Amino acid sequence: MTPPLLETLSLCHTFPDGTKALDNVDLSFHAGSFVVLAGANGSGKTVFMRHLNGLARPTSGEVLLHGNSVLNDLSRARRSIGLVFQDADAQIVGQTVAKDAAFGPENLRLPRHEIDKLVKEALSATGLVGFDERRPHTLSGGEKRRLAVAGVLAMEPEMLVLDEPFTGLDWPGCADLLTVLNNLHSSGKTILLITHDLDKVLAHADRLILMESGCIRADGSPRGIIGEVEKLGIRRPAGEITGMSWKQRL
Ligand SMILES: Nc1ncnc2c1ncn2[C@@H]1O[C@H](COP(=O)(O)OP(=O)(O)OP(=O)(O)O)[C@@H](O)[C@H]1O
Ligand SMILES: [Mg+2]
Repeated sequence: MTPPLLETLSLCHTFPDGTKALDNVDLSFHAGSFVVLAGANGSGKTVFMRHLNGLARPTSGEVLLHGNSVLNDLSRARRSIGLVFQDADAQIVGQTVAKDAAFGPENLRLPRHEIDKLVKEALSATGLVGFDERRPHTLSGGEKRRLAVAGVLAMEPEMLVLDEPFTGLDWPGCADLLTVLNNLHSSGKTILLITHDLDKVLAHADRLILMESGCIRADGSPRGIIGEVEKLGIRRPAGEITGMSWKQRL
């Protein structure tokens, strides 16, 4: 049987001060899925994300990419699993939008024409055509967030993992980013969206995972486990409460 794209096996992470951030997390992510991982503040979401491409080392357990430990081939893991962090400013490294998006493929030492092609495609996929020469620090919050996605896309990852990507965005900014994510998902990318704000995203997800105190408390279809969210400190989506269908909401 083909192994899943990404899998965590009994993943544990305890910090030196004794904080147990991840406690035996067993999860599999299959190619083409759109998964939402939700949990209250401090439940372990960001720590979990940092393990997915080997940025953090497990205290015990492991992360497998196509059946192989990510720690055995970190450059492959970094390329295949694209992480978009919450702080878009911290991810900006280039003097211009195009140079910023080129940073990843340049590090892969790809030929110039290939880099230019990847950057063009990534800026197009994120709605940033025409922004090439802009200084990243002059972009709006939503545009910066899309640039962070573009920088990761330019590495041609198999899976995109985004940590609270809607923080600080107004509704049009959220809608633009959701459109980008939906288009990427439609074109075959695997998406893991980490948030404690289910309102904006649940309509798009085919799976919802709920985390609490470093443990997985529920994992299934959004409809099937939505009833579990409130007792884990996550607000239930308003649209769902008023009876609107998932897909009507956006
Ligand atoms: N460097 C560290 N040293 C000690 N404890 C840490 C460290 N980094 C994170 N933690 C702890 O690990 C736990 C999980 O943190 P994490 O950042 O993954 O939470 P989160 O679910 O992403 O929360 P939020 O919704 O606030 O972003 C928390 O209790 C946090 O205080
Ligand atoms: Mg976090």
